Formats: sequence, C-alpha cells, structure tokens
Amino acid sequence: MSFTIIGTGSKVPALVKTNEQLADLVETSDEWITTRTGIKQRHICTTESLADILYDAAASALDDAGTRADELDLIVCATIRGDYISPSLACVVQERLRASCPAFDINAACTGFIYALDVAEGYFARKKARKALVLAAEAMSKTVDWNDRATCVLFGDGAGAAVLAEGDDLLSIKLTAVGNTGPLFIPHVGGNCPFVAVQSARPYLSMQGQDVYKFAVSSMCRDIQDVIKEAGIAKTDIAYVLPHQANIRIIDAAQKRLKIPQYKYISNIEKYGNTSAASIPLLLDEANRDGRFKCGDILVLSAFGGGFTTGACVIRWNR
Ligand SMILES: CC(C)(COP(=O)(O)OP(=O)(O)OC[C@H]1O[C@@H](n2cnc3c(N)ncnc32)[C@H](O)[C@@H]1OP(=O)(O)O)[C@@H](O)C(=O)NCCC(=O)NCCS
Repeated sequence: MSFTIIGTGSKVPALVKTNEQLADLVETSDEWITTRTGIKQRHICTTESLADILYDAAASALDDAGTRADELDLIVCATIRGDYISPSLACVVQERLRASCPAFDINAACTGFIYALDVAEGYFARKKARKALVLAAEAMSKTVDWNDRATCVLFGDGAGAAVLAEGDDLLSIKLTAVGNTGPLFIPHVGGNCPFVAVQSARPYLSMQGQDVYKFAVSSMCRDIQDVIKEAGIAKTDIAYVLPHQANIRIIDAAQKRLKIPQYKYISNIEKYGNTSAASIPLLLDEANRDGRFKCGDILVLSAFGGGFTTGACVIRWNR
C-alpha cells in the first residue's frame, strides 16, 4: 500500500517582478538571467503571508480531490521557513482549514516535497492515514540578499499542495542527503541574547553556484536512473519528468545525459524562478489543470537542494 494523488492545488503571491525590473535594483540584465537560468519573472510575497497562499493552494487541492478537511489524517508541509518558528506552517494552515489530524513541517530545502511524499507514504504503509495533505510553501524573497545579484534573481515565492489517498501509485521513491553546508546555506537571524557577543553578520542565503550546479546535474541523473530501475520501468515508459525548477540549464544538462526526450520534461521556471520546495507541486498542479496528464501516465519527480539533499520518485497518475 502506498498512495495515489487525488487532487492538486497551487498559489503564488500577486506581485510579479520581471528581470528588467530587477535590473533597476542590481547590476544585471534580462539577457544574463534568461541565458544563465531560463527565468523571466518571479512572484514575491508582500501583503500575503506564506499561510495565506498555502491555505489557498490547500483548499484548491481539497476541492480538486473532492475531499473535506475533516477527512484528513495527516498534514505534512515542506518549507525551509514558515511564517513562525513555532507553530509550524502545517498547523497554521490546519487551523484555517479546520482539520483535526497530526500536522507538522519538514525541512529538506528544495527537495522538501519529495521528502514529504515519503513521510506520507509511511503513514499509508502503517495504515495510519487514508487521506493526507502534502504541502510545500516558500518565501525565498525573505531569505535572499536583495543587494546580491548572484542570488536575488534566482528565487521566487509560491505554494503547492497535493491530496493523497490510499493506493498503489507510488512505484518507487529515493531520498539522499550528504551533509555539506558550505555551498548553500541560510543562517538564522540572531536573537538578542545578552550573553552572546557576536550575532550573524550576514543573515542571507549564501551559495557557491557552480558547486551546486555540478551536484545538481549529477544527482538528478543518478536519482532518476535509480528510481526508474527500482520501479521496474524503462525510460520509454515515462510520460513526463517534473524536475525541480532551479535552472533550465541544469534540467537540460540532466536531460541530455539521461537521453530522455526533451518534450517529456515539464518546466515553468520562466514564470516563477526557483520556489524551492514549492517548485514541483506548482508544476504538478499546472500540468494537472492544463489536462496534460492521462490516466496511467508515468511521472518522474526529481529534486535537489541545500543539505545537500536529493530525492526522486516514480508515480503513476491514476485519475
Ligand atoms: C547561479 C548560476 C546561474 C551562475 O551562473 P554561472 O555561469 O556559474 O556564473 P558565475 O557565478 O560563474 O558568474 C559569472 C559572472 O556573472 C556575474 N553575475 C552573477 N550574477 C549575475 C547577475 N544576476 N547578472 C549579471 N551578472 C551576474 C558574476 O559576478 C560573474 O562575473 P565575473 O566573471 O566578472 O566574476 C549557476 O551557477 C547556477 O545556476 N548554479 C546552481 C544554483 C542553484 O540551482 N541553486 C539552487 C539549488 S536548489
């Protein structure tokens, strides 16, 4: 017993900033950002909290699934940073949904949605859940240094959700982590403890872009090969690959190495940038609502992120 996806939802905040508009803030250009990353614009939380957009994504997924919030047995939310350190974002959304089930956050950076699917799978396997809500939401705009052109142009804010029910459509899943904090990290904003002399000097996302790039391409290739092997399928059986939307060049490089045809790769990075854990459920929801998936389609999800974490899975679309 694993699960089947019975509904999806997503939401992005209203404010859109194009590459040209960022060129008014830092020394960059639409040409540099587009050719290096594929990103054309991103959405940014202003008046919205993360819980606001995540609630809308969750409500829309429940509606798509024809499921009431009181039917949920689990809410698990992937985020690197909710609106509060405590309570969890999952609990804040649970309150608004009026659900009453275990609810908690997990942090696996950009791989978070796949980690959350794995957590949910455990609830189904132990028969502790018949319906689960898997969420992901990020406000990356609150973590980057808006004076640093090397990072602020890459990220965006968004939220995604999937409702899972008992089923056998998770055909394989793999998670990895290799503790390596150097290339990608975000320090805590310091408190005001009077016994601590030095507070964090630069409380923003730091990234060694080329190290992350190399890790991303090689891990994505390895993980996709591993999960399709474990699922007992061939590359030709895959209908769509939904890769984490960090950089179109990473996706293209992995696609070429894996020799899975490009038309099978779904991407929306141009509209949203890298929304961390929210990127795959945003992609999933857009493709679902476009009517792109047919019943029986084999989907491959693959992500990587800070940690370093990676994850991939094979899911049969069964709606
Ligand atoms: C970030 C990334 C796009 C940078 O591309 P790159 O080809 O490696 O570029 P570099 O960092 O080598 O920088 C090249 C030059 O562009 C400059 N540059 C960096 N950001 C720029 C920007 N927004 N606009 C214009 N120039 C920029 C750099 O200062 C550097 O200039 P220099 O040669 O004069 O020193 C790329 O490394 C990447 O995508 N890495 C993976 C990041 C990622 O996926 N992170 C999320 C993980 S979940």
